Amino acid sequence: MAFGWIEEQAEQRRRAGLVRTLRPRPADSPLLDLASNDYLGLAHHPEVAEGAAGAARIWGGGSTGSRLVTGTTELHTELERELAGFCGFEAALVFSSGYAANLAAVTVLGPHGSLIVSDALNHASLIDGCRLARGATQVVGHADPDGVRKALGTHEGPAVVVSDTVFSVDGDAAPLAALAEACRERGAGLLVDDAHGLGVLGDGGRGAPYAAGLAGADDVVVTATLSKSLGSQGGVVLGPAGVIDHLVNAARTFIFDTGLAPAAAGAALAALRLLRREPARAARAREVAAELHARLTAAGLEAVRPDAAVVSVRAPSPEQAVRWAADCRTAGLAVGCFRPPSVPDGISRLRLTARADLSGAEIERAVRVIGETRP
Ligand SMILES: Cc1ncc(COP(=O)(O)O)c(C=O)c1O
Repeated sequence: MAFGWIEEQAEQRRRAGLVRTLRPRPADSPLLDLASNDYLGLAHHPEVAEGAAGAARIWGGGSTGSRLVTGTTELHTELERELAGFCGFEAALVFSSGYAANLAAVTVLGPHGSLIVSDALNHASLIDGCRLARGATQVVGHADPDGVRKALGTHEGPAVVVSDTVFSVDGDAAPLAALAEACRERGAGLLVDDAHGLGVLGDGGRGAPYAAGLAGADDVVVTATLSKSLGSQGGVVLGPAGVIDHLVNAARTFIFDTGLAPAAAGAALAALRLLRREPARAARAREVAAELHARLTAAGLEAVRPDAAVVSVRAPSPEQAVRWAADCRTAGLAVGCFRPPSVPDGISRLRLTARADLSGAEIERAVRVIGETRP
């Protein structure tokens, strides 16, 4: 049978307790949400929803074509200008997703003959970028600038070091300044994915590279998603104008992909303007994360100290993690559940997101439910 092997794999997954299922979310879900990546609580903000609706009314339901044909509206250009200005970079290019932005950045900055040095715990989209790139990839230990130095060695030709700024599983931050130093010693570029830093870290949420003093540097390129703090959808690459022009000409996920939907561009732009007006949202997300961590630790749970807005709690096994998350859900709390194969170290976790709009009472309730349902 042509697809018999799929049933064999499904059976293996069932036996290992690793089956994934989709759970459609009703619009009026009563659950307290600590599972989404809506760090600033903007996805449902009326201005953001109106940003989407208004853009759809003006520009239509879709962008109608690839960015180089009909898919670039004035709204896309406005969004790119404002994102670049906010994050402190010369230029920006938006993509239909953060995933596509990462594939573009890694493949374009890692051409044939180049060396790509990649952190062992990078996000899947960066890993896939390395797999697609024509350059050779060397994976180094997690958050290890000396490992990066060693890997760069005496490589001749283009080299780029690739890292998340905030790692999506444990929420720990990369040592950006030290990575930049290692890159500069060896003449390599630095490419960082600020998906979990934008809107949370740096002055008013300008991101981790901004906080590390790397914004606008001519050897630093940043990717980010519009789908987390900005409560929308889409991705962006930020960097020197020459790099952005090169992406326009060479990045396959830019050239051969329909441009970001106008509604997503409109929502992201509205969220960005809101964040500019209300910069305290970023600090509040960090505060909520610190409070969650402190309360979970006080309750005897093994939580990782958060560097941004992701709080990770260790679970004893994949099965217990799944049951724990399900018990939380039954008790009215939505939490993320990370387990193999999504976690390269094999450690299963509950993953909580510290939304800036969580109240003290909601934080207390979340910690109580997690404590009461622990395996
Ligand atoms: C670190 C990181 N990079 C990239 C992405 C992909 O972004 P998008 O969801 O916009 O495709 C994600 C998750 O969504 C992520 O966590």
